[in-house]
Amino acid sequence: MSTEPKDKAKFDGAPATPPNDSWHRRLMEGRAGLFALMTTVGVSIGGIVEIIPMYSIAAGPEQMAEVTPYSPLEVAGRDIYSREGCVQCHSQMVRPFRAETMRYGTWSRAGEYTFDRPFLLGSRRIGPDLHRIGGKYPNAWHYEHMRDPRSTSAGSIMPPYSWLHKDTYTVADVTASVVALQTLGVPYTDEEVANVGASIKAQADAIVADLATAGIHTEPDKEIIALTAYLQRLGRDGSAAVKAREAAAPTPL
Ligand code: HEC
Repeated sequence: MSTEPKDKAKFDGAPATPPNDSWHRRLMEGRAGLFALMTTVGVSIGGIVEIIPMYSIAAGPEQMAEVTPYSPLEVAGRDIYSREGCVQCHSQMVRPFRAETMRYGTWSRAGEYTFDRPFLLGSRRIGPDLHRIGGKYPNAWHYEHMRDPRSTSAGSIMPPYSWLHKDTYTVADVTASVVALQTLGVPYTDEEVANVGASIKAQADAIVADLATAGIHTEPDKEIIALTAYLQRLGRDGSAAVKAREAAAPTPL
C-alpha cells in the first residue's frame, strides 16, 4: 500500500516556511522595538482595568461594619498561628458550596477579612477549615487539643503543640504587633495602643478563669491563652453580620 499522500502534488515545490511578507509581519512582529512597546501598552491597559477599581474602594470590595479589629490578645494569638504554620494544614475560607456550608457554617464574605494582615486563607486542608471555629468548642477543648490532638480527636494526625502551654508572650511584643498593624491602616487608636497591657490582662484573665472551671490551672501570659483567644474569635463577627443581613434579606443559600 502506498504511503504517499493522495495530493502529494500540492506539497511539491511548496516553500519550507510560510511567506514572511504578511502585513502584520512587516509592520509589527518584524520590528522588535515597536512590537515590545505595543505589547507593553496592551498589557498595561489590562492591568489598569483590573487594578484601578481595587484602589478606588477604601477597604476591599465589600465592607461590613460589624467586623472590628482583633483585640491585642487575639493579635498575639494570630502571630502564634502564623509562626507555627497552622496555615499549612488549615484554610480560613468557607466556600459557597452546600457541602461546605453544612459542615462549617455560612460561607466566608470578603468583608470579613478587612483586618487580616497578612491573609491566612491557606491553600490546602489537611485539617478542617477554621474560618468559623470561634465558639464551636469550649476553651478547655482547645487547651487539650493543642496539648495532644489525639486526646480530643481520636486518630488525629495534627501534631501536638505542647510548648504553647509553657512558653509566654510579652506585652512589649504584642504592642509592637499592634503598632505595626496601626501603621498598615488598622484603626487602632493611640489610646488602645497605650492600653494593650490592660486589654490583654482583662481578656486573658477571663479565659484563665473559664479554664479553671474545667479544672485546668494555668497563667494568663501563656501562649496557649493568646492562641485560644484568636481561635475563639475567628469568624464570629462575620457570622453575626451575615445573620443580620440574611434576616433583612434572605439569600437563596
Ligand atoms: C499537619 C497538619 C496540621 C497542622 C500543622 C495543624 N493542624 Fe489543626 N488539625 C489537623 C487535622 C488533621 C485536624 C482534624 C483532627 C483534629 O481535630 O485534631 C485538625 C483540627 C484542628 C482544629 C479543630 C477543628 C474542628 O473544627 O474540629 C483546630 C482548632 C486546629 N486544628 C487548630 C490548629 C492550629 C491552631 C494549628 C497551629 C498551631 C494547627 N491546627 C496545625 C491538622 C493540622
